[in-house]
Amino acid sequence: MTTILVTGGAGFIGSHVVDLIRSAGDTAVVIDDFSKGSRHNLAADVKVIEASIADRQAMLAASAELRDLTAVIHCAAQASVVASTEDPAHDLHVNVAGTINVLDIASAHACPLVFTSTGGAIYGETAPRPTPETAATEPGAPYGASKAAAEIYVRLWARKDGLPHTICRLGNVYGPRQRGDGEAGVVAIFATRLRDNEPLTLYGFGEPTRDYVHVSDVARALVGAIGTSGTFNIATRTETSVREVYELVRTAVTASTSGDPALAPLRPGELQASCLEIALAADVLGWKPEVTVATGIPSTARALLGD
Ligand SMILES: NC(=O)c1ccc[n+]([C@@H]2O[C@H](COP(=O)([O-])OP(=O)(O)OC[C@H]3O[C@@H](n4cnc5c(N)ncnc54)[C@H](O)[C@@H]3O)[C@@H](O)[C@H]2O)c1
Repeated sequence: MTTILVTGGAGFIGSHVVDLIRSAGDTAVVIDDFSKGSRHNLAADVKVIEASIADRQAMLAASAELRDLTAVIHCAAQASVVASTEDPAHDLHVNVAGTINVLDIASAHACPLVFTSTGGAIYGETAPRPTPETAATEPGAPYGASKAAAEIYVRLWARKDGLPHTICRLGNVYGPRQRGDGEAGVVAIFATRLRDNEPLTLYGFGEPTRDYVHVSDVARALVGAIGTSGTFNIATRTETSVREVYELVRTAVTASTSGDPALAPLRPGELQASCLEIALAADVLGWKPEVTVATGIPSTARALLGD
């Protein structure tokens, strides 16, 4: 029997990771402070330690409480680019100091850790596309900077402890249970605004592109990456514009809204374009995405609205 600690397990991606672990007959234990996550995302019998990863004493107590830990999948984070620009110190505290505390849990249990970094926010605006893992990290916002710093600690702890920690740089993840403030939040925002016939805005005048990857593919990559050291982009190698996402959602929810969305410039820290190379994950992890944007975005929009 395998026991895997999922930090941020009550959140969007973490809760899908928990489901996947349990569907294989293994045990998932969650650490979450419920700042964004919800118990509704978890089955009633999942063990949850309610605490902040940034609280060192609480993490030492949690580590002492855990038994037979075989791996850590670290999803807990301040995960909003916009929030990171408004309060960079909080972003730093949770995403870097918190990651050190989680790394120390992995050290204490001598088990591998998989870190959920970002591909959308860590590479610079001038990076080649599709962007390989070898490209320079030149984040445009504190969120990407904190993830880049945390990656350095993950690699340092891996060397220090001789453990095969893994870094997964995720594209813009979408799927059931996502909220509007994540990196792929537009799917949730568009679906709810269109349903409620509320005004909505396409930032960047609808032109920015992202590499959207379905949460089921991401959960499979994170669990499959346990014990394989290295840094991997987890995405689809496909660029989709904000306007294309809007059209896919609008068609799926058969909105009664009339009129076009408002257009506005990008907000501070937001990228114009992102698309990630995924050949390394295919070669080393044997992972490939299975869900395309054309099917995944409409089904997500309908699931988010409970259709
Ligand atoms: N959603 C995306 O498109 C995307 C893209 C790239 C990387 N990521 C990364 O994947 C991970 C999961 O993101 P998500 O989209 O599921 O976000 P989310 O906000 O839904 O999940 C994060 C979870 O962490 C919890 N959390 C936040 N701060 C905490 C703290 N101090 N202590 C304990 N728990 C805390 C939240 O309550 C939430 O349950 C994050 O590390 C994020 O940076 C997400």
